Amino acid sequence: MRVVLGVAGGIAAYKAAHLLRLLRADGHDVTVVPTASALRFVGEPTWSALSGHPVATDVWSDAHEVPHVSLGRAADLVVVAPATADLLARAAHGLADDLLTNVLLTATCPVVLAPAMHTEMWENAATRANVALLRERGVTVVDPAVGRLTGADSGAGRLPEPEELLDHARGALSGAAAAAGSGPRERDLLGRHVVVTAGGTREPLDPVRFLGNASSGRQGVALAEAARERGASVHLVAAHVEVALPEAEPGGLRVTRVGTAAELHAVVRDAVRDADVLVMAAAVADFRPARTATDKIKKADDGAVPVVELVRTVDVLADVSAHRPHPGLLVVGFAAETGDATGTVREHAERKLRSKGCDLLVVNDVSGGGVFGRPDNDVLVLERAPDGTVQVHAGDGLRGSKPVVAHGVWDVVARHRRGGGAAGHAGDVSDPGV
Ligand code: CTP
Repeated sequence: MRVVLGVAGGIAAYKAAHLLRLLRADGHDVTVVPTASALRFVGEPTWSALSGHPVATDVWSDAHEVPHVSLGRAADLVVVAPATADLLARAAHGLADDLLTNVLLTATCPVVLAPAMHTEMWENAATRANVALLRERGVTVVDPAVGRLTGADSGAGRLPEPEELLDHARGALSGAAAAAGSGPRERDLLGRHVVVTAGGTREPLDPVRFLGNASSGRQGVALAEAARERGASVHLVAAHVEVALPEAEPGGLRVTRVGTAAELHAVVRDAVRDADVLVMAAAVADFRPARTATDKIKKADDGAVPVVELVRTVDVLADVSAHRPHPGLLVVGFAAETGDATGTVREHAERKLRSKGCDLLVVNDVSGGGVFGRPDNDVLVLERAPDGTVQVHAGDGLRGSKPVVAHGVWDVVARHRRGGGAAGHAGDVSDPGV
């Protein structure tokens, strides 16, 4: 989402630098519009370095791009932190004497103002009237916190902490999404960090040969892209894939390429430390050659063929499920199953869910032929409840193109987290989203 972060001239401007980082970590594209006096507190290089964008400070710079109109029009959210008494007054009365007030006049998106000032100014009748007027017009004016102010004094007027302001920003964005009919689901991974593996690993036999598999990586890449669309910061761990990988976005999407199961294991073990969700969509080799020849294996003159000894690879899914770096990590596995004399697809899948120790298992029924490389998919999702019972999800949302199925899987993940999830995840019961 495109966020304009306005900064007015108050000592709390330094806190806006942290808010900027949080907004970027949430995946937003943030343009900072400081007022002239804000720049006396925190300089232009800080804002441009942290936002990754040039900083527009007045209506006259880059006039050919008409920033006083284009910034406000294009924004999905405008947040002003800190909003001084002067800024509130100018906003309430529709003044347009600098770039920030122009942005406020042209914005059609939600506007969140976070005032910070001395208690007397906050309580002054003029400020109260301005705040009332702004609120009446639908602007969110956050109540300032009570506490230590700039000098030795304390009272109402402190800028709330950046984390709290981030919650207001998220609330304004999801409220707007709901009003637009796209529903809050669209951004329900905001603030979450997810790791998604995709593609097939390759286990080398010699410098030119490997044991591989037919995974195209389509479903894994679609899952990473869907998570990104829903606001998550995503780490995509890609083995061999046949589809284009999404472009990395600083703070929003990271891609790490891996070759073998062992490389994937090492990257994933490290990546999940600060993740909320791991989705193991990669087709990881179960076996690898016991030895990798350093030189290309030659055909023997006598026609003898080499015998390749295989050894088991680490089961990454089972290992991460059993050794979670923190109890909040939700682990989602994948399985390809066929029904046979020993059980139905669902029975096999249920056994796999338990043996792998993951929370959710996305199951491809491959009885009628593989799904590898096909653009569409049809899956069951098995969900382990805290009491050990297993719930099965299927049907609409879990059938269709791989992007549709990807969103269907994230829907189940989101509901699972909201419902408290599997054993060991009780701490997330009150989570508003995933
Ligand atoms: N997996 C893994 N590490 C492995 C092998 C598989 O993490 N060394 C993960 C895959 O990413 C996937 C799930 O485990 O999430 C698949 O389990 P697997 O036991 O390979 O099941 P199937 O692919 O269904 O194959 P089979 O039951 O025939 O072994």
